[in-house]
Amino acid sequence: MNEIEQAKSLEEQALKEIEGASDLVALERIYNVYLSKKGSLAGLMSLMRNIPNEQKASFGQAVNGAKTAVASAYDTKKAALEAAVLSAKLAEEKIDISLPGASKTPGHINPYFQIIDEVTSIFLDMGYEVVEGRDVETDHYNFELLNVPKDHPSRDMQDTFYIDEELLLRTQTSAAQAHTMVERKGLTPIRMICPGKAYRRDDDDMTHSHQFAQIEGLVVDKNISIANLKATLELFAKKMFGAKREIRLRSSYFPFTEPSVEVDVSCFNCGGKGCAMCKGTGWIEILGAGMVNPKVLEMCGYDPKVWSGFAFGVGVERVAMLRYGIDDIRRFYQNDVRFLKDYLGK
Ligand code: PHE
Repeated sequence: MNEIEQAKSLEEQALKEIEGASDLVALERIYNVYLSKKGSLAGLMSLMRNIPNEQKASFGQAVNGAKTAVASAYDTKKAALEAAVLSAKLAEEKIDISLPGASKTPGHINPYFQIIDEVTSIFLDMGYEVVEGRDVETDHYNFELLNVPKDHPSRDMQDTFYIDEELLLRTQTSAAQAHTMVERKGLTPIRMICPGKAYRRDDDDMTHSHQFAQIEGLVVDKNISIANLKATLELFAKKMFGAKREIRLRSSYFPFTEPSVEVDVSCFNCGGKGCAMCKGTGWIEILGAGMVNPKVLEMCGYDPKVWSGFAFGVGVERVAMLRYGIDDIRRFYQNDVRFLKDYLGK
């Protein structure tokens, strides 16, 4: 084989390998072998000195032709392989818009506020207004006007957080009863509820918290009797716990109501047959109530010979715990969303 044929054969060899290169790495290797400065095509020039003068020109042409042909085949192949890499990448990263998006789990209102909202709307439907009380109260409104003078033994059960001798965190939303009557100056009938917080120096455990919520209710008008109290609370119990529920009144004691009652609702878990929730009795206690003590009416500016009324107080967490089967009162306040999942499946 003469030198020109050698150049030709090297060119063919290079073109064949370029053609067969399957990826950019292989192509780069071929480049180094044939086309780089120290590659075999460049090396052909060293043969020049063996070539007779009259053939030098055609040998030079053959070598240059081989270089150009191989370089151009290399460029074409490189562009093709790069295009293939890009389209493979595009295919791989293609967004499938038919896939469902990452959905956010919808939350749920805390059962504590759920109960307040439900009770409020039941009483709004009955024509009650919602009164806003205050968390910091005076001894006068929290106790004195509710017929609990300074030396009254029932104060012991409602020990709380005192700011000074006369200022305290209210122990009961009943303070809002006194405020409303004093504000209305003994002149107008009253139908109000007051949802809000109350505070007691209690030990915090599964069923007690130093802070809890109550919903107070107060009706004052002419000719209000215990029949009105019973009918109102029965309607409330049916709307809140189911149309089949009944209530019963058990006599009790509160300084600001006379007579006073505890109100039980027939068990909404077993329907009254007796189960663990109602401790086998068929009844569940849900609130305290009574006819407004005439002394309270009088102290708050309503003439008890003209006006009478009833009042009630519902424990919010208690109702929520019964309704949702929540066993630890502290979970209401811990701000852990798993709480909603555990009890509401949300
Ligand atoms: N304030 C009472 C309590 O905290 C509940 C109550 C309210 C009772 C209104 C009678 C009337 O236990």
